[in-house]
Formats: sequence, structure tokens, C-alpha cells
Amino acid sequence: MCGIVGYLGQRRAYDVLIQGLHRLEYRGYDSSGVAMINASGDLNIYKSKGKVEALEHFTQSKDLDGCIGIAHTRWATHGEPNDINAHPHVSQSQMLALVHNGTIENYNVLKEALTLHGYKFVSETDTEVVVQLIDYIMQTNGCSLFDAVREATRQIVGAYAIAVIDKSKPDEIIAARQSSPLVIGVGENNEYFLASDATPIIEYTNKVVYLNDGEVAIINHQTGLHIFDAHNTDESEIHITELKMSIDELEKGGYPHFMLKEIFEQPRTLADCISGRISSDAKSVVLSGVIENREKFINAQRIIIVACGTSWHAALIGKHLIEDFCRIPVVVEYASEFRYSNPVVNKGDVLIALSQSGETADTLAALELAKSQGAFVFGICNVIGSSIPRATHSGCYIHVGPEIGVASTKAFTGQVTVLAMLALLVGQMRGKVSEETLETVATDLRRVPTLIQDIFDRLNGKIEDLAKIFTYAHNFLYLGRGYNYPSALEGALKLKEISYIHAEGYPAAEMKHGTIALIDVDMPSVVIAIKDKVYEKTVSNIQQVKARGGKVVAIVTEGDEVVSALADHVLEIPAIVEPLTPLLTAIPLQLLAYYIAVNKGRNVDQPRNLAKSVTVE
Ligand code: G6P
Repeated sequence: MCGIVGYLGQRRAYDVLIQGLHRLEYRGYDSSGVAMINASGDLNIYKSKGKVEALEHFTQSKDLDGCIGIAHTRWATHGEPNDINAHPHVSQSQMLALVHNGTIENYNVLKEALTLHGYKFVSETDTEVVVQLIDYIMQTNGCSLFDAVREATRQIVGAYAIAVIDKSKPDEIIAARQSSPLVIGVGENNEYFLASDATPIIEYTNKVVYLNDGEVAIINHQTGLHIFDAHNTDESEIHITELKMSIDELEKGGYPHFMLKEIFEQPRTLADCISGRISSDAKSVVLSGVIENREKFINAQRIIIVACGTSWHAALIGKHLIEDFCRIPVVVEYASEFRYSNPVVNKGDVLIALSQSGETADTLAALELAKSQGAFVFGICNVIGSSIPRATHSGCYIHVGPEIGVASTKAFTGQVTVLAMLALLVGQMRGKVSEETLETVATDLRRVPTLIQDIFDRLNGKIEDLAKIFTYAHNFLYLGRGYNYPSALEGALKLKEISYIHAEGYPAAEMKHGTIALIDVDMPSVVIAIKDKVYEKTVSNIQQVKARGGKVVAIVTEGDEVVSALADHVLEIPAIVEPLTPLLTAIPLQLLAYYIAVNKGRNVDQPRNLAKSVTVE
């Protein structure tokens, strides 16, 4: 987490930096700061606890001149969120300013060594060690900032994307990366932008260069961009990628929150996700990343899906889809558990890394581990050019556009959609999916965007009203079975993360083994009770809740009369083949969480303590 921005060119750096910080605020919003060198050669650093807005307020009457600068928005890891721990950090010589995203694992050892050399530390951060180390190397070796950064990257252990400026060289930014993302935007006339992802860059240029692990870049206003390997003197070839992202996609488009915009975008994002991948007669599915690796999937002994958070819930749905359609055993692992669990990975295994951002540190490490043990690794991500797609053997994008709200919505349905297409395709390749089944499911998949629109048209107002009834509940239970047990987990997570109401997702039938003890009139249950193969059993589970005085909000299939008679509130969704039901049940669950959070006055897009892209362990 944490977001980095940098600028070097002809404009006032401050404006580019602040706008960039706003775009990256989803990566952390504990504090923010900027460092600029003005025309007189002064290094001005301004930092403020809290959001970027607080920094803007703080800098109102300050000297904001200068055409070079770096900036940072922080998600605190080492040291509490306050002004002192905010980045940029400055060297003891007062010559260098540095911003950092990641964590330095050996910072204690380095700090002790630097303290012996007379360095005094003002913050509690791991980052300050890096700027002092670079300073120390420059002082003792009499070398350039670039050489010192390169030497420092050999001594620091951990994950980092850093950008450093030197007061004595006001035309140069040095940047380096290891396991944390960094993108360089290339403008006209040696104008350069730097950021943790492309969103702060896209309004100025669509030409970007992704820095690779172990690379150090010199960004110089006179000599341009040069990238080197940190461990030898080799200069890397520069690969410019042209991005297609548009600035409109990054704006709220009239909605009060990004989250609501992203919920309502789903008919279009899923149409984009499916586009060109299901033939117009719905008889075939094309995912080139899968087709090009046909043998790997056909012969897979096992599929392991690693993911975190909402992506982990999508992975659980993926397990049902792949096991149903492909008859390949699937295990779903939290990436953070998998990477430290001494997992048994065999050559015939396919590992799928599922991640919206493509940057989640644990997911990246899990896939690297599986790759080193001989697995074929396949990425399913949203952010184009992010670290996971670049580390995998192959993969496919979900193509739902930038997701800015911290709570994932359209990425979740995009992930389930891609997993459904992958399961159908691999199932067909393995001879486990008949032409008829493929056509039935693919036809329904093509209907999903329209069906979601129908849910919005019929249920949005109703859910807004329903949210008013439940805004002050302290606990919620979300129950589901089969394909919709992960939907219950996801519904509960959505509510927790944005409303701060405690909620638990549970397999409906498991409830009677303990959780039922919690049920009383004050604890509402949201039950997914659609007409699937366990429908009758779910009806019994609802009866068990009702018998204990619990209030029930049920998500049912259109026309259901049985549950409608039992439940206190009913939300009807259209009928669809069972494996695709999570795509529809997700919608009312997202809206319910959203409206409850709004009623509680929460910061829906940037809930407390969270970040969208978790690039630390
Ligand atoms: C964070 C986000 C979640 C997301 C999870 C995994 O916790 O707040 O919304 O599901 O990371 O992120 P990924 O980008 O790997 O899907």
C-alpha cells in the first residue's frame, strides 16, 4: 500500500503531485506529503496527517514552486499515522528527500549501524533508514545519488518502490523497485511522471514504462530516462507501453461515491468482460491464455487458486465452477497462508493467482513459490501491466476498468465471470462439458448484464428503504449454501468493511452447530435462498432462524412464494442457471451494504484502516 507520485518537467510539480495523490488515495490515507525543489534550489517538504485534503489545506500559503517533486500517501505499517512518520523523509544532511512504498525487513540492523555512524532518526518508520543509508553512502563514497541508491538497494531487504530527489541536482529523480509497483510516464520534451500505478499519469500521457524488480531508473530533464539493473552496470532496454485507459473512467461520473458508480457499472463491465470471448451463437468460449496452454489445463492434476479478501471469495465460487464443469480437484488457499505453509506443489498443478490489483504482495509471493516448484501459474487480474500478470506464465484480464472504491464490487463479478468462462472452456477441452451445457450456460452468461440492470431497476429503491430499517443493527448473519455460501461471505465482508457493523458469513446448514446461539430479535440474518438444488434445505434453515425470533432478509428467485411467506423482507432476483447465481445475488448484497454505510455516515470509498492494494505482508 501507500502511493507514490513524482514529477519532473515544465509544469508546477505541486499540481501534478496533489492530483496524483488524490488518484492514489485508495492505496492509503493515513497521511500524505510532498517535496519540491524550487528555482532558488530550496527543498520544500510539507506533510500532514490524514487525507490529501488536509495536506492541501496545510500548504495553502506555502512556497509551492518548482518543476520537480515527489509525493506520497501513506498506509501506516511502521509507526503511527502522524506528521513525523509521514513521507517524504529527509536525510540528515537535509539534501535528500525520499518516498517509499513497501516494507524494509532489515531496517533495525541498518538503523543500528547508521546510529553508530552518528545518524539520528526522527521518525519511527522503516523508510527513514533508507534515506539515511543513501545519504551515508553518498557522504562516505563521494558518489552520485544514482550510485548510492544502487548500492543501497543491495543492502536493503524487503519490498520497496522508492523515489529520491537531491537538492543539489534539481533536474533528476532516482527511482528503484523491488516487489512494489512503479510506473514511469513519458511525456513530451523530457517531461516525466512517476507513480505507483498509471492512474495519476493517464491525464498527461498514455506512454508508460513499467519498472521491473531489481531496476533503478535515472529520470533526468536533460538526458531523459535510463534504467539499469541494480546489481550490475547493464542498461535495460526501455519498453514503452501505450495505455488505453481513459480519464473518464477515473472520475465519479455524477455518482456520490465511486463504489455506487462501480456497482451500477456492472452491466457494462460484465459485457466488456464477456465481449469477444463468447461466440454470438454461444457455442464456444475463447480465452486465448487458456487456449495457448491447452495441454496444461487438460492434463492438470489439480488447480490451486490463491487469493486474498474479496478475490478469495470469488476463488471459492471458482472452485465450484471448475469442479462442476472440469472435474478437476480445486483447492482455494489464502495466499498469505499458502506461502508460509510448506505446500505440496507438483509439476502437473496449475496455480491460478486471482487478484483485482495484480499487486497483492501475498498473492505475488504465493505464485512465485508455486512457480519455483514447477507449477504452471496463471493470473486472473484487472489492472493491466501490474506485477502478477507480468510474473505468471499466462493469464487473462477481467477487463472491468479501474476500480477505485476500496470495497471491491465490479471486480468480484468480473472475476466470477472469467472463472465461469474458464471452467466452461477447460471443461469442454477435457470432454466434460457437452455442447448443450456449454450453450445453455454461455447463453445465460450473456444475459447477465441485462439481468443485473433489471435488478437495479426493480430493487435499488427497495434496498435503500430496507437499509434504513437495519442501519442500527450491531451484528448481522449472512447465510448461503453451495455456490452462494461464498456469496454470503462476500456480503458479510462488504457490510463489515464499509459500515463497520460486525457481520459473519456462514454456510446456512452449519449455523445449527453453534452460530444459532447468537440469533435473537436484534440480529438480522440475510439469507440467500434462491431455487437451487438445496433450496428446500435453505427453507428449513430460515425456519430455524424464525423460530428463534430472528429477522430474515431473503434473496429469492423471482416468483418464490414459500420463502416470501416466511421471511420478513424479500428481494427477488431473476432465474438463471445455478452456477451463475452468485453474479446476481452479489448485486443486492452490495447495495444493502452500501446504503447502510451511507446511512451511518461512513466514508464508503475509503473506509478506515483499509487500502485497496495491499503491497505489504
Ligand atoms: C484489499 C482490498 C480488497 C481486496 C483484497 C485483495 O484488502 O481492500 O478489496 O479484495 O485486498 O486484493 P486483490 O487486488 O489481490 O484482489
